[in-house]
Amino acid sequence: MVKKHISLIAIDGPAASGKSTVGRLLAEKLHFLYLDTGCMYRAVTWAALQHKIDLGDETAVTHLARDIQIEIFPENGEADGRHYTVHVDGQDITWALRTPAVDANVSQVSSYLGVRQEMVKRQRAFGERGAVVMVGRDIGTVVMPDAPLKLYITASAEERARRRTRDRSDQGHTADYDRILADVLRRDDIDSNREHSPLRPAADAILIDSTEQPPTMIVNAILDMIQEPVNGNR
Ligand code: CDP
Repeated sequence: MVKKHISLIAIDGPAASGKSTVGRLLAEKLHFLYLDTGCMYRAVTWAALQHKIDLGDETAVTHLARDIQIEIFPENGEADGRHYTVHVDGQDITWALRTPAVDANVSQVSSYLGVRQEMVKRQRAFGERGAVVMVGRDIGTVVMPDAPLKLYITASAEERARRRTRDRSDQGHTADYDRILADVLRRDDIDSNREHSPLRPAADAILIDSTEQPPTMIVNAILDMIQEPVNGNR
């Protein structure tokens, strides 16, 4: 039995704060759909790079964002460690979204109002299905301001860079901690100071520092908040 009627959980936070892992685990436990909105901004960035569009050309990037089809499928048994599959115009770009070139440019692309309006429209359509965990930067403040549960997950920049470095090397890539730390700090700076939908906690968000808490501990604490235990077990 659910203590509080929760149809949608909004999770925001800075780069590599653990929000995606917490969101994914929560969605699994609650049998909710999971939407990582960051992958949509990454998809637009990837497509702009692919089409050799000048990333400083806001009008061209915005038109591209409106034109491309982005599809996100739940994990389909691929054995390569992915948690979901992303297609742009039918092409599987799941791993291409995680390259340093996309990391380096995604914050500029997602600062454009027209790009945001298009992505938010698609995200809200997804949210309307209900039973959704949505993760990003502006979910609690802009995309789903009426979400009944909002979380804002942070961690120290050094811990976030360590985690991202570990993820990258687990995926078989060379990963330089100093470069990753610089990228995380640079993206946080752009994301927090942009004019449209800057990264910040909603006034009614629960703030969680994940620096010293593993995701499973955070997930259990959230489940305790919203669920009655069944026979003392989850
Ligand atoms: O996984 P990580 O935390 O590194 O980033 P992400 O969630 O994949 O988001 C990549 C970038 O997309 C962010 O740095 C933001 O610039 C942008 N983003 C955004 O503006 N709004 C969102 N709701 C989600 C991501």
